[in-house]
Amino acid sequence: MCGIVGVVSSTPCKDFLIRGLKKLEYRGYDSSGMAIADLEGNVSIAKAIGAPVNLDKSLRENIDSTLATGTVGLAHTRWATHGVVSEANTHPHSCGRVTLVHNGIIENHADIKAQLSVSMKYNYQSQTDSEVLAVLLEHLMSNGETMQSAIQSMSEMVKGAYGIVAIDANKTDEIWVARSGSPMVIGLGEDANYVASDALALNAFTENFVYLDEGQIACIKQHSYQIYSSVGEPQSAQETHIPYKADCDSHVGYDSFMAKEIDEQPDVIERLIRSHVDKSGIKADSDLFLIKGKLRNVKQLHIVACGTSYNAGLVAKHFFEDYAGIPTSVEVASEYRYRAVAVPENTAFICVSQSGETADTLAALRKAKESKYLTTLTLCNVETSAMVREADLHLTLQAGTEIGVASTKAFTTQLSAFLMLAATVCEDEEKQISLIDSLLRLPDDCRSALLLSNEIKVNAAPIFEKTNSCLFLGRGEQSAIAAEGALKLKELSYIHAEAYAAGELKHGPLALIDNEIPVVVNAPGDCLHEKLVSNIEEVNARGGQFVIFSSKEAVVDLDEMVNIVMPPLPLTTACITYAIPLQLLAFHVTKLRGENVDKPRNLAKSISVE
Ligand code: G6P
Repeated sequence: MCGIVGVVSSTPCKDFLIRGLKKLEYRGYDSSGMAIADLEGNVSIAKAIGAPVNLDKSLRENIDSTLATGTVGLAHTRWATHGVVSEANTHPHSCGRVTLVHNGIIENHADIKAQLSVSMKYNYQSQTDSEVLAVLLEHLMSNGETMQSAIQSMSEMVKGAYGIVAIDANKTDEIWVARSGSPMVIGLGEDANYVASDALALNAFTENFVYLDEGQIACIKQHSYQIYSSVGEPQSAQETHIPYKADCDSHVGYDSFMAKEIDEQPDVIERLIRSHVDKSGIKADSDLFLIKGKLRNVKQLHIVACGTSYNAGLVAKHFFEDYAGIPTSVEVASEYRYRAVAVPENTAFICVSQSGETADTLAALRKAKESKYLTTLTLCNVETSAMVREADLHLTLQAGTEIGVASTKAFTTQLSAFLMLAATVCEDEEKQISLIDSLLRLPDDCRSALLLSNEIKVNAAPIFEKTNSCLFLGRGEQSAIAAEGALKLKELSYIHAEAYAAGELKHGPLALIDNEIPVVVNAPGDCLHEKLVSNIEEVNARGGQFVIFSSKEAVVDLDEMVNIVMPPLPLTTACITYAIPLQLLAFHVTKLRGENVDKPRNLAKSISVE
């Protein structure tokens, strides 16, 4: 969680740090700050509440000479964990010679504070767990340790997760980086070297990167860098080339990243599908073909994920059980990682993640690697992520960078990848052919679904303008799409939204129904349609304002409702296509209520803390 960027350069670095922070604000935007050093050993700090644009603005109004001209710096955009949103709790934190930024959570910060208080009186400035790291490093260095050995000692003492970048005021031509549980990457430039919690922050400046492994420590200078193990042994580094991707820089032509990312879905789904399948089946040179071989003996699947990716897993359970007859369980990673999991013989573990860095999902993958699984597979959008590097197998989603905090194109590519996977492990040739046919036409079906945007904006969104609460219903795989629809609406518009398998309504939620409550239903006209209609009637008898997305054949006959008719499409991919109008609904409702579709309050895109 939080975003970090740092640089050792020969030219003033303030603008670079601001640009980097703006790229990283998807990781948190409660507040941001930077520290800049000059070669005389001066270190200046600036902080501002809110997104990095506020820091930029405040530095334009008021800046000292070190911040304006210093060439070595580090910066941080915060998603508050310990301590309220305030300038005092904003990073960087400093103590004596040491100034640092921290990403992660130090679980034993109180113990370390207590230990330090025995030998060192220090007046802490913040409520954060992070400040204790600056105090600890200062304490160790004032006892004669170097920055490197102090970081090594620190790593033995702390419990939890960290990615840190630190400057020593006595040696301001270098910065130090360390990683344990939170990703850090070094960027190699021509006349500067960089560091960040995500290569995205650096990609406009360099295409050459070195990812730090767990426990590694690095010293970065303007023209060189050196990586060390956690016990101080110099280590060689593997450089990775990541071509610059202009598409992640802006939402030119759209009013928001969310609008752009919703609109990109047909194209990215097409790219994903066509790289793995064609009319004759799964391409022999695709990753999917390799995965097919490794899953030959699979008897069960355990899917683990968080958030929207978890909802994708819920849909995938239907794919694997309906089309391939493979028993599948789906679990949120924060639960899976801490319980005793029974792993039957020939079970494969699948983790699914947009970022590939979500702390709970990564920990679940690491646990799975220690268990007796047939293999571990990750479905992930970020090729360079920890999950892709650590799983035995990976299927990359190829959705391009997703900036909007609420996941859209990553979700529908996850579903498309899961359906391809189900087709891969399906032994019934007829079913497999029909799945592949529907996958190949899916991009066009999604294009048709996007055409409903204005109708949703004009007819459906106004129903939610003043509401505080609503329900999403579906049956079968559409109950999982309802869960995703409710998540999208609540995280963006702040309307309380709950999803239910429609048959469960009578066991409690029906008590909520009155004339005011909007009820969103996906009714694709599948084999459960008659049952769904009965559930709709149960609600209708008690009030409810219906918004129903249905096929032309499955229009439900109610007096009071907004019925949005979906284009003709195959039922095998209906759950993917029906996710799109629910995204559009959340988008238009959020706009109507004047909220931010890209950066909902209290949330962040990448959750690299527990
Ligand atoms: C955060 C994001 C969600 C995302 C979840 C899991 O909560 O705001 O949009 O679904 O993390 O992230 P992952 O990268 O693992 O899919």
